[in-house]
Amino acid sequence: MASLRAQSRVPPGARIAGYGTTSFLRLTAIHHPVAKCCIMNPSRPNIDIEKTVHKRYSTAALETQTALCCPVEYDDQYLEILPKELIDRDYGCGDPSKYVRPGETVLDLGSGGGKICYIASQIVGPEGRVVGVDQNDEMLSLARRFQNEVGERIGWHNTEFYKGHIQDLALDLERFEAYLADNPVLNSSDWARAESWAHEQRQANAMIGNHSIDVVVSNCVLNLVRPESRRQLFTELFRVLKCGGRAVISDIVSDEPVPDHLQNDPNLWSGCISGAFIEHDFLRAFEDAGFCGLEIVGRQAEAWAKIEGIEFRSMTVQAFKIDEGPCLDLHQAVIYNGPWKSVSNDDGCTLRRGERTSVCGKTFDAYSQNPYREQLTLVPPIHSVSEEEAEVFDCQDHQLRDPRVTKGNASSLNILPEDGCCSTDGDCC
Ligand SMILES: C[S@@+](CC[C@H](N)C(=O)[O-])C[C@H]1O[C@@H](n2cnc3c(N)ncnc32)[C@H](O)[C@@H]1O
Repeated sequence: MASLRAQSRVPPGARIAGYGTTSFLRLTAIHHPVAKCCIMNPSRPNIDIEKTVHKRYSTAALETQTALCCPVEYDDQYLEILPKELIDRDYGCGDPSKYVRPGETVLDLGSGGGKICYIASQIVGPEGRVVGVDQNDEMLSLARRFQNEVGERIGWHNTEFYKGHIQDLALDLERFEAYLADNPVLNSSDWARAESWAHEQRQANAMIGNHSIDVVVSNCVLNLVRPESRRQLFTELFRVLKCGGRAVISDIVSDEPVPDHLQNDPNLWSGCISGAFIEHDFLRAFEDAGFCGLEIVGRQAEAWAKIEGIEFRSMTVQAFKIDEGPCLDLHQAVIYNGPWKSVSNDDGCTLRRGERTSVCGKTFDAYSQNPYREQLTLVPPIHSVSEEEAEVFDCQDHQLRDPRVTKGNASSLNILPEDGCCSTDGDCC
């Protein structure tokens, strides 16, 4: 196979695709400067967002707030076992639970009364696990009040609810509050000690650990996080996912920037309107955090609300965290089937329709799965190459794969169609 190895050698001076640096399987958004407009509307509100959101959802946990309800069709079979109180206190705008699979570990950001968690619990089954995180005590007690009863009805107990900020998923706020009760903050030294305790907890005893979740879902919550914290929020989302995991987030987007006077309206903020992402910026936020293979899997045709001509609607985005690691040449190729003339992945590597394009092993594995698989023909090598003998592959360098690499180098082989293969009864090749 010496000639095949020579064919795949990286040319002198070429940029080498190393650990998650240049392949589309990126680690973080460090290489992608975040534009100012990204993940937020142009201005920053000058209201106390935490206070207004806290007040609104404390009340909404105790009595149904119809103004917060956005019509969503959930799968009835999963609602049957849920208490009416939980169904009534549904403040979601989409149904990310549709994308959850049996056996998975699911994290629901801003779990509210727990409805999505209890739906997901039924889907993932006894082998799976569902974790809800919410910052609001009243919402947490609503979700926890029915935990045992719902578990009994489902037939297994696989839900857990934690108090935390979704932009800081490592810190368990109930543990922190217990610490603060024993160690009250009375001066700046106490404050520094409490901060340092929280920091240690995040490192050594994280509420949601690194690479621990198969799928992060959220239903109408991210828009409630203050703009300055959104980059950290998406970084957290990426951190907790396993490689190969995904995020499926339903949230409210706007088709135009939301002007200052609307952003400074506490009622519109807590009502999931003023904090809406501008629709393309919602996708950019995932890209900037390092996600790949983004797809809009749901978008309300009709606007949920219109204010001063601006349309607000629900959108659901699915995004993947792809495997990290070196780009190695395992002699694999893919052919993009179309219909577009060419497509680019999240690292800007292009596949042209019909071309047998060389890819590294990691990319080949990613392309073998959702969301890419259906659009591609995978062309494995005739002889597999072990990682030990593989050479480094430059994912940025568009190369066609020599067909002899994937079909073998039997130059003396002749196989002609058999005589009579194309018969008149239509039984042709
Ligand atoms: C619109 S409700 C949606 C609740 C739930 N996902 C549902 O489908 O009914 C928003 C929820 O997010 C919670 N929330 C808002 N901002 C949060 C944050 N930064 N961290 C944690 N929870 C938050 C609120 O307490 C509230 O329960």
